[in-house]
Amino acid sequence: MLGLLKKKLREAVDRRVMHLMTQHVGRLARQQMADELESLRGGLAVDDPRYVGSQGWTGYGDPFAFHTAAAASALAEGVAACYGFDVDGHIAEFGTMTGATARGLARAMASCDTHLAHAVQVYGSPRRELHLFDSFEGLPAADNPVDAASPHVQDGIWPPGSCRGLTPEQLFAVVTEYLAEDRVRIFPGWFADTVPALPAETRYALIHVDADLYVSAMDVLGNLFARGMVTKGAYIYFDDWSCNRADPAFGERRAWRECVERFRIEYSDQGPYALFCRRFTVHDYQPETATG
Ligand SMILES: C[S@@+](CC[C@H](N)C(=O)[O-])C[C@H]1O[C@@H](n2cnc3c(N)ncnc32)[C@H](O)[C@@H]1O
Repeated sequence: MLGLLKKKLREAVDRRVMHLMTQHVGRLARQQMADELESLRGGLAVDDPRYVGSQGWTGYGDPFAFHTAAAASALAEGVAACYGFDVDGHIAEFGTMTGATARGLARAMASCDTHLAHAVQVYGSPRRELHLFDSFEGLPAADNPVDAASPHVQDGIWPPGSCRGLTPEQLFAVVTEYLAEDRVRIFPGWFADTVPALPAETRYALIHVDADLYVSAMDVLGNLFARGMVTKGAYIYFDDWSCNRADPAFGERRAWRECVERFRIEYSDQGPYALFCRRFTVHDYQPETATG
């Protein structure tokens, strides 16, 4: 009788232990699955290594969250190339809004300051600054006929004042988490005013154009190329390359084509990144004014 009771008790304990183990393993598996999904989910931090390291958007989650992470990653590659291959000049972003890509640039610069310090020493490169340009009022009115006729303006996606994001103070706080305050310069105002006001000796190694409209891209690139501020080997990143249904008559595609013709830019197409953005390297061109 006692033997039977012991057997029953052992079986009951075994069942309980098995049940607890199954629950535990199930919890672990569910947690692991949740972690996996989290890593693919929109809303992950831009610099989350699981996300930044992913090869591409898997079809799960928010494609624009993937875009931001992938764009930050591609921009970081450009920053590293500027440091590692001694492309002269500062790093600039035109269109800062949420501060997400500006933050990615700041992080990449801080990382290169540490990990590519030997290259900086070998080349004797001056300390690079991060220059951030935005109206801090959102998009301008699409007065230019090219923008007025563009699909996204016609569809009402890009009204004046849209895409308004952080204030200059908030943006400064974001990027100075990574870079010393004297390495960051913020230029509030319309590009048409702030870019021509840059000192003649300004030079850029990496230019991130993320301002949606044709006229905004022209206000940036037309001015920088005219004044010889884009250095040899500089990287130009276009975030909105395939906006407006990728129609070359509009937006950044048109601005780049016109600049290539006007300044006789020799360049290499460095291909797509993130959600159909595009980047180029500048080899040579003809500025319009002599600069200091
Ligand atoms: C798509 S958002 C930039 C997104 C940003 N890179 C981010 O990480 O959130 C476009 C930005 O360009 C700015 N912008 C567009 N045209 C401009 C212009 N002509 N002058 C100044 N800022 C402009 C807008 O204020 C807006 O913040």
